[in-house]
Amino acid sequence: MSIEDCRIIELPKISDPRGNLTFIEGNRHIPFEIMRVFYLYDVPGGTERGGHAHSRLEQFMVAMSGSFDVILDDGNQRKRVHLNRSYYGIYIPALIWREMENFSSGSVCMVLASELYSQTDYIRDFEVFVRLVRGELK
Ligand code: TYD
Repeated sequence: MSIEDCRIIELPKISDPRGNLTFIEGNRHIPFEIMRVFYLYDVPGGTERGGHAHSRLEQFMVAMSGSFDVILDDGNQRKRVHLNRSYYGIYIPALIWREMENFSSGSVCMVLASELYSQTDYIRDFEVFVRLVRGELK
């Protein structure tokens, strides 16, 4: 997987004076079926989250409120994405290292995931991750 496979996806936005509405359908607006939803909230200032990659899991991450940065790394290249709107998000395929930081006060990071939670899908050591994507590990 390459950093180029991580992409911002703009979501439908129904603008309305009563309040805007955005919706997400699996396999339509994002390229996988949604199996799980989780969210980070009440994140204390200065906290870093993530710091891992996944073997199989694909994710789509949205700043439902506030803002934060997502750092993405494919083992060769690194890029930083700032999320601060609830009508777009970042698609993260498998085998991409991610870290989240600079959470604003009151921010909510919602993640749509392609699989149920599985501890064995996590790669938590960056050196192991780099060796894996470079084909130095099975
Ligand atoms: P984790 O993904 O390790 O968060 P971070 O990498 O940001 O620290 O998850 C933190 C804890 O929450 C961990 O003990 C596993 C648990 N967890 C679940 O039980 N189900 C889930 O869907 C997720 C995402 C985490």
